Amino acid sequence: EAAEKGGFEHFMMKEIHEQPKVVEDTLNSVLKDGKIDLTEVGLTEEEMKEISQIYIVACGSAYHVGVAAQYVIEDLARIPVRVELASEFRYRKPILDKNGLVILVSQSGETADTLAALRESKELGVKTLAIVNVVGSSIAREADNVFYTLAGPEISVATTKAYSTQLIASYALALQLAKVRETISEEKYCEMIQELTTIPRKIGKILEDKERIQWFAAKYANSKDVFFIGRGIDYAICLEGSLKMKEISYIHSEAYAAGELKHGTISLIEDGTLVIGVLTQDHLYEKTVSNLVEVKSRGAYLMGLTHYGNYNIEDTADFAVYVPKTDEHFATSLAVIPLQLLGYYVSVAKGLDVDKPRNLAKSVTVE
Ligand code: G6P
Repeated sequence: EAAEKGGFEHFMMKEIHEQPKVVEDTLNSVLKDGKIDLTEVGLTEEEMKEISQIYIVACGSAYHVGVAAQYVIEDLARIPVRVELASEFRYRKPILDKNGLVILVSQSGETADTLAALRESKELGVKTLAIVNVVGSSIAREADNVFYTLAGPEISVATTKAYSTQLIASYALALQLAKVRETISEEKYCEMIQELTTIPRKIGKILEDKERIQWFAAKYANSKDVFFIGRGIDYAICLEGSLKMKEISYIHSEAYAAGELKHGTISLIEDGTLVIGVLTQDHLYEKTVSNLVEVKSRGAYLMGLTHYGNYNIEDTADFAVYVPKTDEHFATSLAVIPLQLLGYYVSVAKGLDVDKPRNLAKSVTVE
């Protein structure tokens, strides 16, 4: 097993470090001469033009990919997107538009609820597309179209690299939809693809700074509660950061859309409570800063996660973490990395079983 871990102490850390490579591989699998080519996936331009509505259905971290993808697809391609938990979708007699597209996101391709949602959608006569990692899995076999992520086998129960490749797949899809439906210019399309190709290198750069996160994690390993706050895509990042934290470190943690704080969560803030603000979306930056100020005045200890350049975050946050700047639509791919590291290092600091957290399974094939 030590050999399989490739010199890392845990599979999770190995898989975190594989992200630049697998993200690049997944992107390259749909890149041809600087453009996105979804021929292998099987979605034709005609079909892409006709989509009236997108439903993204998934569980766990794959659902969080859906939340991020919702913002990206709606903004770039101007198609209404609904994101649903598969376990809810399958039992609520979904009303689906016949020109809709149901996207199932799943690492294993075997999650019982996601598979059932796929079957339900097919029965209703709606086109389905699976974003799946495991070749030949049930979801991959049964969906009309498949976009394979090339994350390779993922051993750690807490997903990292599969999640990152699912994000890349959803950006590629969003960009192609936007191009075909002419909701972005050809120039913008090429520019954004160019930016996508820089993501692997930027992830690598974040990983070089991991000791700083390790130091911070050791300091906060005894926290009772942690809150993650952000707006828009930053909220999607918070959902995944919070899940990483609680699933492997057993610290109670919640993700909140920053604007919702005053509707409840703020009463939970006590002296020293760790609040992590995610601020990658420049048009929402000031709004989230003001939410951080609100919790700080109630005693919270603040970590601010933003991109290089936003150094004035240090006027508010007690501890700042910077990631390279990218197009705002793609920010999840970078900002999630320090949060994966944070969950990992807190778990290690507490001496927990990082790769196999209690009560959790890698693939949930029962309801
Ligand atoms: C389990 C795993 C999660 C995963 C979820 C969905 O709960 O522990 O990490 O996100 O299932 O799995 P899937 O294979 O469908 O992506």
